[in-house]
Amino acid sequence: MNPSEQGRPRLLVARAVFPSVIARLREHFDVQHNEADEVWSRAELIERLQGMDAVFVTTGEPIDRGVLAACPQLKAVCSMAVGYNNIDVPACTERGVLASNAPDVLTETTADFGFALMMATARRITESERFLRRGEWNKWAVDMFAGQDVHGRTLGILGMGRIGQAIARRGALGFGMPVVYHNRSRLAPELEQPLGARWLGKEDLLRQADHLVIVLPYSAQSHHSIGAAELAQMKPTATLTNVARGGIVDDAALAQALKSGVIAAAGLDVFEGEPQVHPDLLDVPNVVLTPHIASASLPTRTAMANLAADNLIACFTGGTPPTALNP
Ligand code: DGY
Repeated sequence: MNPSEQGRPRLLVARAVFPSVIARLREHFDVQHNEADEVWSRAELIERLQGMDAVFVTTGEPIDRGVLAACPQLKAVCSMAVGYNNIDVPACTERGVLASNAPDVLTETTADFGFALMMATARRITESERFLRRGEWNKWAVDMFAGQDVHGRTLGILGMGRIGQAIARRGALGFGMPVVYHNRSRLAPELEQPLGARWLGKEDLLRQADHLVIVLPYSAQSHHSIGAAELAQMKPTATLTNVARGGIVDDAALAQALKSGVIAAAGLDVFEGEPQVHPDLLDVPNVVLTPHIASASLPTRTAMANLAADNLIACFTGGTPPTALNP
């Protein structure tokens, strides 16, 4: 599609995005930018999408069949997130709408954070900091905040995609951790071998992992993949870290498991119904809670936004969108 033939295409940027990225987009589009970073309801989103040719979205804006039907002019839906459970890709494809996400550019940054969150969880870093800030530290004690070791313990990865493999690399090569994983398909031997990674069935993974890290995409199939029954299979000394999506873990069941010592601790960057957090999780001390920031380094968030812009620009200038989900 050539803007010079059709006039400048109209683009809605649904959340506040870096000025440098907006400036790039303005070279090609008539941009409506949600600079105030309001979180719109689905109805408000539909209203703002009227007459738009394209939309730049993030993790939360729902682009479902109904939204697409209500916005027939839409030709491209480009997300700056790697996870795209908010976009109905088959519905986009049926309507000839480009859908794209932003893989790869966030892999290492997200893996850094996943590993850090797992370590903070195992070593009780935020729990002990809260104790110190409350002024409760009045003596050194032998077992004070004694947590779990990380080095040499078994790292379990649920979902061995790019981010899962990057976390496994950190564990295997940096911390001497045996790596076990569960994934729909086994990795090729040339990927498994350098990590010494072993594929296991899900139940064996739950039983063997000392530190379980969840990096699965969210879908109807992965909804509540970890609930009370799965937690009960884990070691009482195990930790669970989720940097994937809320809803994969049943947060109420996890809070209960943490309270009753079914597992030792959890680290959560994502939540069911975020930014709401299940109140029971706020009440348990042995959980590290962060507000969906695993990819949030400035260079990485900038690269993610630029990749969404690359897809949009390519779509409207006759190029090949680099990370289309429905090429
Ligand atoms: C993603 O990209 O899917 C993350 O959850 C946000 O970085």
